[in-house]
Amino acid sequence: MTIKVLSVASEAVPLVKTGGLADVAGALPSAVAPHGVEMTTILPGYPAVMKALSRPRAVHAWDSLLGDKARLVVGKIDGHPLLVLDAPAYFQRDGGPYVSGAGQDWGDNWRRFAAFGRAAADVAAGAVKGRNFDLVHAHDWQAAMALAYLRFAPPEGGRRVPSVMTIHNMAFQGFYGADKFPALALPQEAWSMDGVEYHGGVGFLKAGLEAASAITTVSPTYAREIRTAEFGMGLEGLILSRGERVSGIVNGIDSAQWSPETDPSLATRFGVRTLAKRVANKRALEADFGLESGDGPLFVVISRLTWQKGMDVLLEVLDHMVGIGGRLALLGSGDKAMENGFHAAAMRHPGKIAVRTGYDEALSHRMQAGGDAILVPSRFEPCGLTQLYGLAYGCVPVVARTGGLADTVIDANLAAIMVGVATGVQFGGVTYSSLSDAISRTVAIYAQQDTWRAIQRAGMKTDFSWSRSGKAYADLYARLIAEEQ
Ligand code: ADP
Ligand code: GLC
Repeated sequence: MTIKVLSVASEAVPLVKTGGLADVAGALPSAVAPHGVEMTTILPGYPAVMKALSRPRAVHAWDSLLGDKARLVVGKIDGHPLLVLDAPAYFQRDGGPYVSGAGQDWGDNWRRFAAFGRAAADVAAGAVKGRNFDLVHAHDWQAAMALAYLRFAPPEGGRRVPSVMTIHNMAFQGFYGADKFPALALPQEAWSMDGVEYHGGVGFLKAGLEAASAITTVSPTYAREIRTAEFGMGLEGLILSRGERVSGIVNGIDSAQWSPETDPSLATRFGVRTLAKRVANKRALEADFGLESGDGPLFVVISRLTWQKGMDVLLEVLDHMVGIGGRLALLGSGDKAMENGFHAAAMRHPGKIAVRTGYDEALSHRMQAGGDAILVPSRFEPCGLTQLYGLAYGCVPVVARTGGLADTVIDANLAAIMVGVATGVQFGGVTYSSLSDAISRTVAIYAQQDTWRAIQRAGMKTDFSWSRSGKAYADLYARLIAEEQ
């Protein structure tokens, strides 16, 4: 019997992406399909999403979805069923999914994603004729209100469906003032400790976590970390109270998009048995960034430039990195002060450090294929995908020992090198001294080319495809559905 799941996400590859959530939401339907799950994704109708629909066909309409007109249109995403909430007042605007062109959060994000949640709740409960779902899977705060609506204001005659709430990043919670509550059109009982009320305001993620049948996050280590004050960002008590209902399922990578043997973006394709060919990609990358060749490793960074990602600490260690023979190619965007800091470092070290700001998917592939090592010095990292892409592409990950980074990279300590299982370099604590030590250690290992090759090969052979995690999600869905019956 096929299990029908509605996946509620605010972004999904290949239609709209601001970060790893899009990679995961885009890959999940194919990941769970071999395990008897038919997944339908529901997305907001941003301009890019609406444009991608070849023949938009409406299957449902709301005269007033929290005050504005909306329709539900059908499409396909990567061959899987797609529903799009076409609500121009909420989503048809220039800029990003969450921020304006100037980088400011849209002032009405609470209303936009409450409306998205309201619509997803109606769909999940069967309000759209001919479409029934056995379970709803919500991702992050933007989708969390779907679960609150299902619990406190289900559509008339709707079905009760079990739910999964996945936390991709506890740092973003969708927290708003109490004055927003009346406009959410929830019954008064939802204003409670186990409802949407949170520290005197409205908490979207909090409400979803309370209502979900099960909570997952994107790595086992992060699932443990969010039980503590350091990582729980205020929600650690709630997470602890949900006990066994919280688990970690590590993200996979979509090998159709991320395989060095087939990647159309690369100067030269290569595999674990043809690693020698990889150097052509390194030369191409150096030329592209205007970097000199050298004996030391070429580090790459592909990242949002934020405090979470430890980019402020990386800025401090760049002079040391160059001093010991390292070079850096960085692709990122985010915090303007950090962007300026990296540009200034590039000016100080021409030919050794080069920076590209903005977002460039194809370049990110070429950097994984041409860099020697990818730096991921995150203060916290629920899963992290760039280290997984690095493993697959022979770009050795140098990572902080936290969250999914701790779960997916095996540190090149002496024992791990001796038995041939090392896949990268890990360091504890995101500080100047730990990161500069890790960079020194990487430079030293790189000088021993046989050891370096063995680390690259071990990483490339590690299977981080979706097969295991796809089954883990499918098993969880089946368990929750059985519980309901
Ligand atoms: P997060 O979602 O926290 O930003 P992840 O490592 O899970 O971190 O995912 C980041 C995703 O975004 C990866 O697919 C990465 O390659 C991509 N990415 C980040 N910054 C850029 C950029 N400037 N250009 C292209 N891709 C980027
Ligand atoms: C979030 C996290 C990142 C994770 C991604 C996909 O953006 O910051 O660690 O890989 O979601 O789950």
